[in-house]
Amino acid sequence: MSMSSRDFVRAKSEGRRLSMITCYDYTFARLLVNSPIDGILVGDSAAMVMHGRASTLYASVEMMRLHTEAVARGAPGKFVVADMPFLSFRKGVTAALDCAQVLMTSGAQAVKVEGVDGHEDVIERLVQSGIPVMGHLGLQPQSVHACGGFRVQGRSETARRHILRQAACLEELGAFAIVLECVPAHLGEEVTASIRIPTIGIGAGGGCDGQILVLQDLLGLNQDFCPKFARPFFDGARAVTDALQRFDEEVKMGTFPALEESYS
Ligand code: KIV
Repeated sequence: MSMSSRDFVRAKSEGRRLSMITCYDYTFARLLVNSPIDGILVGDSAAMVMHGRASTLYASVEMMRLHTEAVARGAPGKFVVADMPFLSFRKGVTAALDCAQVLMTSGAQAVKVEGVDGHEDVIERLVQSGIPVMGHLGLQPQSVHACGGFRVQGRSETARRHILRQAACLEELGAFAIVLECVPAHLGEEVTASIRIPTIGIGAGGGCDGQILVLQDLLGLNQDFCPKFARPFFDGARAVTDALQRFDEEVKMGTFPALEESYS
């Protein structure tokens, strides 16, 4: 069944956990469309996972448009959220609306915005314009240089209170869900209990209303970076390496292609 932002909020009130996964391309979207996963995030992590960049700062509106279109084409009927890239929502309401327009007309049904401080007006206007907004608190990768690297957030009492305040503010502004990234499990639980909209955790413990992973991490395809929360549910790197080795061997032995794989 296809989900919507309203279904996300309903799921929390009915105590149903939510699953989300990132996706950036058509081929994987074709596989995800038939899965029971509740939602797809076209994350700005595309800049790192698909383009080999060192951070998400390199994702542009155009990059997000291309990936969102490919995913939406491959997964019709799935709930697709697209990330508003670095600074796209910090240059004023008009610029943010322009970016959201590109993403929504590329096939997204909602946008995700990192943080809240200083762009409350943008979030409010997006919501008032009929664009469902997902928040993103805790580790905000677009602010990696300000928060001292990819590290757990919310450990101090001040930071804990700040995240709780930001979550309340996002709910107040009309966000339908909040991604909570890299915070202690007890804080994940506390934020989740403090608001009526669902929290989708990534490195935020089992107390969140749902979980999200980067698809390539879940499939064990990412050999460069492996945070402790990124459980691989498949040994994808090995499976791909084995397939490439078998292909190479069969080509060199002359057993590929076989007769039935050739035209007469
Ligand atoms: O861009 C992304 O992949 C994300 C997830 C880490 C939630 O924001």
